[in-house]
Amino acid sequence: MMNHQKNTMSEKPVIAVTGGGQGIGRAILLYFTERGYNAAVLDMNLETAAAVAEECKARGADAIAVECNVTDSASVNAAYDQIGGYFGGRLDVQVNNAGVFRRERVEDATDDVTDLLIDVNLRGPVYTSRAAIKIMKEQGHGSIINAHSILGQFPDFGLGVYSATKAGLFALTRVLAAECAPYGIRVNGYAPSVTDTPMVHHIIEERPEAKLDQIPMREFGTPDQIAKICWFFASDLCEYTTGINVPCDGGTWDVQRPFMAWKAAGKL
Ligand SMILES: NC(=O)c1ccc[n+]([C@@H]2O[C@H](COP(=O)([O-])OP(=O)(O)OC[C@H]3O[C@@H](n4cnc5c(N)ncnc54)[C@H](O)[C@@H]3O)[C@@H](O)[C@H]2O)c1
Repeated sequence: MMNHQKNTMSEKPVIAVTGGGQGIGRAILLYFTERGYNAAVLDMNLETAAAVAEECKARGADAIAVECNVTDSASVNAAYDQIGGYFGGRLDVQVNNAGVFRRERVEDATDDVTDLLIDVNLRGPVYTSRAAIKIMKEQGHGSIINAHSILGQFPDFGLGVYSATKAGLFALTRVLAAECAPYGIRVNGYAPSVTDTPMVHHIIEERPEAKLDQIPMREFGTPDQIAKICWFFASDLCEYTTGINVPCDGGTWDVQRPFMAWKAAGKL
């Protein structure tokens, strides 16, 4: 673990993102640091976290990379001690983004895969929220953002355990929103569908027609689109909104046959 020491209160707002070493987490960090935030990049992979911290610095931010396994409460507590210390007790935005994706029918789900999905996707946000709340309570404000998934609302074959973790996380978001409201902390979540990151890049490369047929906007998502929703959650545009889930999915599953509109428009 790198050792970070500075402890004067950060003048710029501070964002911490778990799973910040790649994909959606990285995009959120770059979006916020381009717009005046300092950053803590948390990941179990310190190498990728350090590379993203450098990218944040290139955007004018003070940024630290912190090795953190969100499934391990000692690792999480140590990480937030470092972040709180380095930024002088300032933490404006916490994104519980680290997640893992595995496809297995429930009857085939091994103990290992079941544990991994529940530990990273559900236990992790409990631990990191708990640690972030401790800092945010002191300063009297904050925005916590959870990585839900449209599979939490519309589960799919072979994705029972993953979908259950994301549905559970949305329940956690709503309860946390109520519990944190007295401290000026809002808690919301984003729900991507297929978004182009290392996690699902293989699906995007194949461009399966059947998947595109389910999406009214007929395109897969980009990590930047999620970053923009986080920017809204963190800003005072969202000051009276807490406990919600915002899908970022091009309208997926709003209607049964969205491709019919493309046919009617003569574009398919
Ligand atoms: N990409 C999508 O299509 C999609 C769709 C719905 C939901 N999501 C959710 O969005 C979030 C980000 O997804 P992504 O596509 O950027 O994923 P990704 O696999 O590209 O990146 C995930 C990051 O989390 C880190 N990580 C994994 N386990 C960890 C742990 N125990 N502790 C700390 N870090 C850990 C990885 O090292 C990696 O850097 C996830 O929660 C995912 O479930 C993604």
